[in-house]
Amino acid sequence: MSTTNPGTDVLRSAYQKSVAAYWNNNPNDDRVNLRLGDVDGLYHHHYGVGDYDPSVLEGPQDTRDERIITELHRLETAQADLLLNHLGQITFDDQVLDAGSGRGAVSFMANHRFGCRVDGVTISKYQVGFANSQARHRGISDRVSFHFRNMLDTGFETGSRRGVWTDETTMYVDLFDLFAEFSRLLKFGGRYVCVTGCSDDLTGRSEAVRTIDEHYTCNIHPRSDYFKALAANNLVPITVIDLTALTIPYWELRANSSLATGIEEPFLTAYREGSFHYLLIAANRI
Ligand SMILES: C[S@@+](CC[C@H](N)C(=O)[O-])C[C@H]1O[C@@H](n2cnc3c(N)ncnc32)[C@H](O)[C@@H]1O
Repeated sequence: MSTTNPGTDVLRSAYQKSVAAYWNNNPNDDRVNLRLGDVDGLYHHHYGVGDYDPSVLEGPQDTRDERIITELHRLETAQADLLLNHLGQITFDDQVLDAGSGRGAVSFMANHRFGCRVDGVTISKYQVGFANSQARHRGISDRVSFHFRNMLDTGFETGSRRGVWTDETTMYVDLFDLFAEFSRLLKFGGRYVCVTGCSDDLTGRSEAVRTIDEHYTCNIHPRSDYFKALAANNLVPITVIDLTALTIPYWELRANSSLATGIEEPFLTAYREGSFHYLLIAANRI
């Protein structure tokens, strides 16, 4: 199902309104995202992967924080690069969708890498404005655009997308509804890539996972739900990478920076105790 005018009726529940309000006005987390994005103008709203260079913690105190921030940004960009590595063969003529596009960094990276046409959707009007002004500033607004639309009902044409991704956005929605929309949008043989945190099915929702949910107004899904919802929607996992060990250094480094918000410890606890996993799933539309 798709709306004829997806710009209206975007926020369909009290919960979606509260998520939009969070992303329109989240000064504490925004401080982190803006400071890291200022490093090179790519404003991410996700976490990082890979080992950090331990030398950033040494050296002059007055530049220590600068070094840590640059390193955290390198790791969050590495995460987006890893996601894009799994998007398959994308060409200049292809159209892709960034579902829950934040300030647009992953969309810009995809366009830069593949030359493809990118649409980003987010339920934050503020983010749409920010990302579109970045696209204009980069001189690519004819190829990369952002829309105030709900990723559960994007209004884009059926079968129009070679690739779709979600980078830390699936915890805000019902996975069956979401993957039904992605299945509709993807061409046969198209690729969906998801990077997400998910709870462990055996431990259940730990206290640390519940704390993360409360902090971000989200609803972390069990790992098994991803695979059930993909299978129900003709999306076949082709690669699954558990990134948990790879993301722990990012959180350790962030806990050591002036930008720490206090959410670092629940993430580290949840990852270390095994109640929370950080996953990349790439799936083919069959
Ligand atoms: C953690 S941010 C991730 C942003 C971006 N993917 C990134 O990696 O920088 C979550 C994003 O999901 C968006 N979002 C949440 N629910 C949504 C929905 N139902 N439709 C579209 N976007 C949604 C938020 O507005 C926000 O942009």
